[in-house]
Amino acid sequence: MSRTPQPNTVAPFPASRLRRTRSSGALRDLVRETTLSASDLIWPVFVVEGENAEQDIPSMPGVTRKSVDLVVKAATEAAALGIPAICLFPYTDPALKTAACEEAWNPDNLSNRAIRAIKSAVPDIAVMTDIALDPYNANGHDGIVRDGEIVNDETVEALVKMALAQAEAGADILGPSDMMDGRIGAIRTAIEAAGHQNLTIMSYTAKYASAFYGPFRDAVGASGALKGDKKTYQMDPANSDEAMRLVERDLQEGADMIMVKPGMPYLDICRRVKDSFGVPTFAYQVSGEYAMLMAAAQNGWLDGDKVMEESLMAFKRAGCDGILTYFAPRMARLLADR
Ligand code: PBG
Repeated sequence: MSRTPQPNTVAPFPASRLRRTRSSGALRDLVRETTLSASDLIWPVFVVEGENAEQDIPSMPGVTRKSVDLVVKAATEAAALGIPAICLFPYTDPALKTAACEEAWNPDNLSNRAIRAIKSAVPDIAVMTDIALDPYNANGHDGIVRDGEIVNDETVEALVKMALAQAEAGADILGPSDMMDGRIGAIRTAIEAAGHQNLTIMSYTAKYASAFYGPFRDAVGASGALKGDKKTYQMDPANSDEAMRLVERDLQEGADMIMVKPGMPYLDICRRVKDSFGVPTFAYQVSGEYAMLMAAAQNGWLDGDKVMEESLMAFKRAGCDGILTYFAPRMARLLADR
């Protein structure tokens, strides 16, 4: 745990030369305060209909949408690399998007079929889901829209149905990313009642209304559909105390793990959550963060491997237990090759 030195605990120069413990690789290894391993990573993957189908996402170089069979293959690779969890995001056929978002709780929707396929082929990897209506909503919003308003309580009812369908499909971690009020408690009550006592919830608790989600919305095909912005439910990037209230609220409603999103611009929030609550804390290094680093690396302006590792280490240093990152397999491979 980090601690600020008190006056007189650091000897005056030259008794103290802080460069001594930096003077060789061996010494640096010995005094390193933070470690990064494959077991810290959750890999978000995009799922698309088809078989042996893989589509590039132009704003996310190196990331593809994969058909269910290829997602199973990816899960197998992830497990072999020691990545403990994979998180699914479906690219939904626009014809299935409606104002009521019924496809969200279809037991056989793309996401639920992918959960079943992974759990039967690679039972040891944890499958995380996304709970929000945006992939299924004709309006592109995370909640049901009535007269231009994103209505809270009706959305929560829909989210509960969506959560139950994912639970039935075999999900291990539910990821409510919608930012409606009361959704964690409603989902927890419903899954307990249905007998899913070991099903965990990683709440997207402090999810900011961020422009860094742009490439993701391309990846799931939501960019075109979205009318307006998400500021009435996602957080104002100016706020930090409010995030603490949200964490307290979500923990009281039954969240097992807390997430901060986006990641790098919000490391102060990660640190505050960890210090204030001491609960399992995660950050999402989102699509725009990935896109920035990849674009600079592709231009030869940054060393891709090095900024990947440095950025992920920063999350650990800021108090996170783990990171959702599109770099997961690349980072795990780099670590395995050492
Ligand atoms: C949908 C959702 C979003 C992301 C994860 N779940 C986008 C949004 O809220 O508009 C963003 C992930 C990323 O940018 O990588 N509720």
